[in-house]
Amino acid sequence: NEKQILDGIHAQFELGDDALSSIVNQLLTEFRLGLSEYNHPLAMIPTFVTGVPDGSETGTFLALDLGGTNLRVCEVQLLGDHKFTLRQQKYRVSDALKTGEASALFDYLADSVDAFLTEFVSSPTNAPADPFAASQSAIDSLDPDATTAIPLGLTFSFPVEQTALDEGKILTWTKGFSAKNAVGNDVVKLLQDAFDRKHLHVQCVALVNDTVGALLSRAYTAGGCILGAIFGTGTNGAYVENVEKITKLGNHPARKHGGDMVINCEWGAFNNSKSVLPITPFDQKLDRESINPRLQCFEKFISGMYLGEITRNILLSLIDAVPKPLLFNGRSSSDLNKHYGLDTAIVSEIEVAWEKDRALSCGEKNVDGGDAISNPSSASEPVAVDGDIHHFTEVEKLIPEDQARLERIRTILIQRLNLDAEHVSLRDAAIVRWAASLVANRAAKMSACAVAAILIQTERAELGGGFVPKDEHIVVGVDGSLIEHYPNFNTHLRETLRKLVGEEVEKRVDIGMAKDGSGVGAALCALQAVKQGLLRH
Ligand code: BG6
Ligand code: GLC
Repeated sequence: NEKQILDGIHAQFELGDDALSSIVNQLLTEFRLGLSEYNHPLAMIPTFVTGVPDGSETGTFLALDLGGTNLRVCEVQLLGDHKFTLRQQKYRVSDALKTGEASALFDYLADSVDAFLTEFVSSPTNAPADPFAASQSAIDSLDPDATTAIPLGLTFSFPVEQTALDEGKILTWTKGFSAKNAVGNDVVKLLQDAFDRKHLHVQCVALVNDTVGALLSRAYTAGGCILGAIFGTGTNGAYVENVEKITKLGNHPARKHGGDMVINCEWGAFNNSKSVLPITPFDQKLDRESINPRLQCFEKFISGMYLGEITRNILLSLIDAVPKPLLFNGRSSSDLNKHYGLDTAIVSEIEVAWEKDRALSCGEKNVDGGDAISNPSSASEPVAVDGDIHHFTEVEKLIPEDQARLERIRTILIQRLNLDAEHVSLRDAAIVRWAASLVANRAAKMSACAVAAILIQTERAELGGGFVPKDEHIVVGVDGSLIEHYPNFNTHLRETLRKLVGEEVEKRVDIGMAKDGSGVGAALCALQAVKQGLLRH
């Protein structure tokens, strides 16, 4: 019975080749729908950014970044020659602000900019230690007392129907935000009104999504980029599209002369009908209990806000298994019982603990990414540590190094989830790690589907491979806590990408972190806006 239950869960999280291909094909269908008509959930938003930077751009700008784990205020100095410096301060956005009145949220943003200017720009010597700390000259050039307003680029990582570089209507909130009286309003105006209420001499001249920021900033540092993608609290991508294909723009002047435009896909909302998503009861529970049921369905399989919660749902089902509990002797803790009580950061810690010293106890990686069995020189009979999902029924047979790794996971469970030590065995630790990896590996595979779909949409690949690529290097900029910190996320993503588009294309794809992408991207757009004369005096 135990084996049946665990096998059953394992099977639900498997994503075979056919399932992956259906996801990619459906992504392409929904991309085309979103490009041809307004009001599709997969919004395919034209950004009015018509080119990517080449790295020669210069200037100093303020950037404000809302929508990731932290609110940040940054001062960015573009130095040209693909280089920049950045000084930043992070601020926390409370749940009360996320779900209260929009005016309170935007007042808080204005206060944070004010605090940053007072603390770090007026008195540069108080600047926070930062490896990218800006040079003195950058600080001098942002003068809050100057006659011209300080130009600020806003990175706003939510769906916004953009109508110009400095104008866009909030379509909906995502990622746990639900501030009232914001949806339907121009986000730049909401922010500018807050600056004006506080008599701040700052003007929001440009608006970008974080994916666009990642795209532009990777283009700035790498000299080109076709896709910016975020795998963090949420997930989304922005890519360079041929304006011909953005048919919903009709006769808009931006379409007259051909060329390219960056599209913010908002792929988190892909397949809200769930026709191809590999849904399990654990996902259904998450969706039903979320503040946005039946929305952002793709995101709910992939992003950092949700992976811990899906894992928690699996763990609870094992705690409650009948006739016999399969985890923690049937005990839970108030943390584990709480909605979103298992943070993805904890799951990531568990995977880190499992990965640590892996080289000691495991052989080389198989080509398919699975792990070879434990060191056969061990006195006990070697037991497969991955791949074989039932190794945890025989933890006593694991070699000491593997047992030590499970011991570390056990400690994390006791300390971070307040579980009763008496009821947490090494076998439990192994089951938790197994559940976490099911959820995260599925997320990485589904992320690869989105990247593959962009390569196909932009005619750089064909599903199944067999395509002669036109580019030597296909540059992709990524950002977000998941891709940056979650062990093996990128590796699993690449493995599936290879399967989907073939090795010839996959090996040319250069996926690199667009570190500080949002700040640099916002600064680059602010530069465009200033060049277009959008800064008032
Ligand atoms: C940050 C960017 O580095 O990454 C944000 O500055 C972005 O704009 C964020 O939203 C995404 O990652 P996370 O994990 O913070 O959601
Ligand atoms: C959510 C937002 C989107 C953002 C993504 C990553 O999906 O809707 O705008 O890009 O999260 O932060």
